[in-house]
Amino acid sequence: MDTALQPAVVEADLGFSRPAEVIKDDGSRGLRRAVTRPVDQDFSSQFEYRRCQIRDLCGAGHPQPGLRSMGFETIDLRDREGLQSLLCDVKVAGEISDAQSRQLRRHLQGGVFRLSRGRCLKMLHVAPEGLVMRRGGPNGLKVDPHRSMTEMNHHDVALAIHGDQDVRGTPLRQIMRGFAPSMFNHRTPDGSNRWSPLTLVNLWIPLQQITRPLALMDRRTLNARKHQLRYALPTDTFLDRREDMRLNDIWAFLHDDEQRWYFHSHMNHQQAYVFDTLGEPHGSFTLPGENVAEHYYQLLLQLREQLAKGAALPIAMAKPPPLAETTAPLRKAIDSMASLVAHAPNDKSEQSTIDVWQARAGEAMDSVVRKSLEMRVVAMVLPDLWPFNRRS
Ligand SMILES: [Fe+2]
Repeated sequence: MDTALQPAVVEADLGFSRPAEVIKDDGSRGLRRAVTRPVDQDFSSQFEYRRCQIRDLCGAGHPQPGLRSMGFETIDLRDREGLQSLLCDVKVAGEISDAQSRQLRRHLQGGVFRLSRGRCLKMLHVAPEGLVMRRGGPNGLKVDPHRSMTEMNHHDVALAIHGDQDVRGTPLRQIMRGFAPSMFNHRTPDGSNRWSPLTLVNLWIPLQQITRPLALMDRRTLNARKHQLRYALPTDTFLDRREDMRLNDIWAFLHDDEQRWYFHSHMNHQQAYVFDTLGEPHGSFTLPGENVAEHYYQLLLQLREQLAKGAALPIAMAKPPPLAETTAPLRKAIDSMASLVAHAPNDKSEQSTIDVWQARAGEAMDSVVRKSLEMRVVAMVLPDLWPFNRRS
């Protein structure tokens, strides 16, 4: 891993609720709520981008993440051969099929994964709802703008910082008949349960995330009473739910300078994040330099189309924007795309040369598309000792 030449911290924009969009939350002990606007309303009317420092967990000197302390950590998936092979297939396909989602559940359910601080995570049940594959192009580029979102596929990356589920809200309230707060370990601004070993986690698997990585907050730096807001998320565009469950009760967040953010610049499907579904703040961001990746992505797209039609080259080549200091994997991907642009064949080239270049250009473009899988898992946090850590 080449981390010597990359910044330990990047500065990037994260999307937070606008303070002007906050109202009092009826009936909930002094807490506040972010207003729900129609889903087709412009992002900037509800949310604001704020410049944040986001620390790279690949670098030295950062605290070791912990699920119970910071709200998230990573688990190792490397030795699960069947799972790795399945994840490779999903990455190449760019979507997950029903059969693959069943296989994924089978690989995970009953699995035990080592956590930090002498603990392990035993996965009891992968929730039937909430298994989602996301794809996002460099610098916000939509890679397939004409595909409509389904329950599992063609979801864009999450632009706003959010927490996935309010333990007292829909749909958990209906599914667990109000018992979720007493059963699940959680921290909310109006109450907590720190004793239960039962936990609801997001399992977030980065199939590739050279661009648009996930940022996660060290939850110890969150002032929940001031900055954590209830938010009702409409689900009509991707879930078919009964009338009283169409608004998902999740969390939105206000920005504060005290909040500390982390990401991982060298992470693929050999590792996954586990984080607290019941409030861990997270969302994607655009790395410095993604505008350059988008520039070469667009050039390669045009070159590929012209070569496929047998049309004459060259196309008009705009100068790339200057490359800001960024992560080593993104720099490498940009270098590779720039080299392919510089050495593109033309309509007089041998067909075999064109075919090889087309394949390499397709792979280079695909490498800068963020692809991730996420699901919700009912799990137990247990001592990492036999028989607790026995795989079932
Ligand atoms: Fe989420």
